[in-house]
Amino acid sequence: MPDKQLTLFSETVLQLMNEGKLQVMKDYIQHGSITTLDHSLMVAYYSWRLNQRLGLKADESSLIRGALLHDYFLYDWHVAEKWHRFHGFRHPAFALKNARQDYQLNEIEEEIIKKHMWPLTIIPPTCREAWIVNAMDTFSSVVEVMMEYRLFSVLKRKWYERLDETVFKDFKKIH
Ligand SMILES: [Fe+2]
Ligand SMILES: [Fe+2]
Repeated sequence: MPDKQLTLFSETVLQLMNEGKLQVMKDYIQHGSITTLDHSLMVAYYSWRLNQRLGLKADESSLIRGALLHDYFLYDWHVAEKWHRFHGFRHPAFALKNARQDYQLNEIEEEIIKKHMWPLTIIPPTCREAWIVNAMDTFSSVVEVMMEYRLFSVLKRKWYERLDETVFKDFKKIH
């Protein structure tokens, strides 16, 4: 993809890194060896690309921002602690609370964060952006788990490492 088209995505990531604590998510593991920051970058990038490919007419800025913040819960969910028990059900609310503290969110961005675990959160998403992130989060999580197995090394190369070397490389240097 030409660099010009990547501008919106890159600028949005850098803006959130400057405004809040997005880069802190690199300290927490999401699945296997993938950090929560890697996971969020992938969900945001592929949500954005899916919207463009299928012409879903989502609001691009809100889609990217909401996807980047959908797991902004800022703790290691593998460490057993009472206050975040039932992580699967509760982390969208933790992420929303943190994101509201650090960022100015619009309704679409809030909806993306709140509903990304649907159907666990019972009430379905009410906007297309939240549906897209819900689908890409599920898909991405499955891929991240599969990537841990050598059998799927091609998948890892195509789905993740290629992006890590091209699109994400600049963000990874920022501490
Ligand atoms: Fe999540
Ligand atoms: Fe997620």
